[in-house]
Parts: sequence; C-alpha cells; structure tokens
Amino acid sequence: MEDRYGHRISYLRVSITDRCNERCTYCMPHELQEWLAREDVLTYEETLRLIRIAAELGVSKLRITGGEPLTRRDVLGFVQRLPAIPGINDIGISTNGTLLARWSRRPGGDAGSTLQGASHSEAAPEETMAAALRAAGVNSVNISLDTLDRQAYAQTTGRDFLPQVLDGIDAAIAAQIPLIKLNCVLMRGRNEDQLIPLVEFAAKRNLILRFIELMPVSHSDVLDENNFLPIAEARRNIEAHFGTLIPEPTFRTNGPSTYYKVGCRDQRLGFIGAMTNLHFCESCNKLRLTCDGKLRPCLGSYLEFDIMKVLRAGASDAELRQFFLDVVERKPEQHDFRENYQPGRMMVAIGG
Ligand SMILES: C[S@@+](CC[C@H](N)C(=O)[O-])C[C@H]1O[C@@H](n2cnc3c(N)ncnc32)[C@H](O)[C@@H]1O
Ligand code: SF4
Repeated sequence: MEDRYGHRISYLRVSITDRCNERCTYCMPHELQEWLAREDVLTYEETLRLIRIAAELGVSKLRITGGEPLTRRDVLGFVQRLPAIPGINDIGISTNGTLLARWSRRPGGDAGSTLQGASHSEAAPEETMAAALRAAGVNSVNISLDTLDRQAYAQTTGRDFLPQVLDGIDAAIAAQIPLIKLNCVLMRGRNEDQLIPLVEFAAKRNLILRFIELMPVSHSDVLDENNFLPIAEARRNIEAHFGTLIPEPTFRTNGPSTYYKVGCRDQRLGFIGAMTNLHFCESCNKLRLTCDGKLRPCLGSYLEFDIMKVLRAGASDAELRQFFLDVVERKPEQHDFRENYQPGRMMVAIGG
C-alpha cells in the first residue's frame, strides 16, 4: 500500500482496548470517562481478520497497544495467533510495563486471571507475562518510563506502580525479548531532572531509551509552553553530561525516532520529535486500528474511518481490502499537531 505522498504502509498499530490501569496526565482527560461497552470493541476474531487483510496488502509489522493492552482478557491467546498470519514477521507490544512481571499462569499450574479461556496457551505454568509473550512470538516491547522517582511517577501516571514497572522491565530482560525500548515522554518541570538517571538506567540494562515530545492528544491543555520540552533541549542536556551524541542516520526501528550514539560508550538513544522535527512525517509507514474499529491514517489528524461498521454489515474480504486502500489514499502528507490541533479523541482510545 502506498499513499499519494509516497508513504509505504507496512506497519499497523492495533489498539485492543481503551482501558488502562494507569491515568497518565497527558493521555487521559481530567474528567471521569466512560469505557467503551464490550460490544463496541472489536472482538479478537474481528481484529485478526482485519490484520490478515492488512497483511495481504503489505503490512508486515504489528504493534499491539491500547490503553494498556495487557489488561485485556486473554491477550496472550490473541497474541499467540498473530505469527500464523501470512506476511506478519514483526510483532511488538507497547505497554506501561506494570503487568509484565505478573505470572501468565499462577505458579502451580492453574490458569491465572490474565489467561482465562486460553486452552491453547503454551505458557509454562510459572512463566511471567513477558516470557509468555516472548514464547508467543513477540520480538519487541516498548515500555513507558517517564521517571525513576517514585513520587513523580505516581503523580504523572496517577498510580504508585513504579516498583511493578521496574520488575516488568527485569521480566522482559529475563525473557530475552530481542528488542526492548524504554519510552520517556518529555515534560518540562516534571522529568527534566530524570534525563541523566534514565540514560544511566538504560545503559546498565543495555536497553534503547527514547525521548518523546509531548503531543496535543487527549485534551487540548495537555501541552503548553510551560510543560513542553523539545528534544533538542533534552539532547543538549544529555550532551552537557555525556559529551557529543553521534547521529546514526542509518539506524532505524519501525518508528519515527532518530537515533544517536552516546559518544563515550556503546549506548543508543532515540528522539521522537513529533512537534519540532519538520521532517517527522516523511518516513511514516503506519496505519492505526482503534479498538472500536476505526482505521486512522494519521495520529495527528481527525480523519478516521469506521471499518467495524462495514465488517459487521457483512463485507467481503475484497470489500475490506478496498476499504484499507481508500483509507491509505487519504493519508495526509503530515500531521496537524502544529496547526493549533484540538484533539477529538483521547490518546488512550487511539492507541499510541
Ligand atoms: C497511549 S500509550 C499505550 C500503551 C501503554 N499503555 C503505554 O503506556 O506504553 C503509548 C505511548 O503513547 C505515549 N503517549 C501518550 N500520550 C502522549 C502524549 N500526549 N504525547 C506524547 N506521547 C504520549 C505514552 O507515553 C506511551 O509511550
Ligand atoms: S500512556 Fe499508557 S499507561 Fe498511561 S494512561 Fe495512556 S494508555 Fe495508560
């Protein structure tokens, strides 16, 4: 699939839930919200069918996200079915990390709450969720970690879960997931003091660390001059401590990050400058499928198309394929975040 601007679509981000066990200030609205009703969320069967169709059209990489994807019942049973889809060769998960160290089954062998109904599970009785995901074919995990300060973590996420997240990171390392990335959303006044500790934390564990600029999703006041911290400034702060960062223009993962090597040692850092990098959208290869069955050609645009409606109305595979192609045709050249964008949908309900 290729759009009018030459973006080649090979990457589908699939949100499987709008629910989350955290309440990050930049992702959730301030006011209490209602979760989607179960019948308004794509079933796993429906999601798998849409992924299969996307794969027929050239999608080879998947990222399962949310909300918090590991809160959805039988997520493991779902993930285990992904490698069998012809054409899919790269399966990643984005998670807040809180549930990665949990037992996928309780020690002793009986099915734990995260695995209900997964009779086809191949998880060993005492595997962590991270190990079970690895066994299911997941090769990359992105774990959100904005700070190592427990109090600041609780303030940002609304939950005192930092110890669980750190255990989750250890579990992902122990599970030997080939690519583990830590994602830190930059917030002036909130985690500026955490850049160096996070770089050290990632270096010790040999993990890729990426810094992400705040984007105006969820509610319009998520981003203002007081809390926005551009990647260029974060880079300067890190350079003041570690010396020059060496650009690595040829190193890419699937995402929009630009990578640098820390000169004084063998460590890689990524910077995702959705707001300040004017070339950010040029290499975009993504489509998003929300958990309520909307195809979104761009995170930073209002455009979304209801594929659940046509699927539930009985569309054939050929009709669904055409739907994908029509959405790709309407992919914008770039996002609208710099145009005083007012979000129409929470990040937690899009799938970051
Ligand atoms: C929406 S979350 C979903 C997956 C999982 N719950 C997690 O936290 O990683 C995906 C990513 O989006 C990022 N994110 C959420 N709201 C954001 C915002 N307003 N600006 C930039 N990144 C944001 C999160 O930090 C996270 O790395
Ligand atoms: S960023 Fe992730 S963990 Fe935080 S509220 Fe959003 S979905 Fe939940």
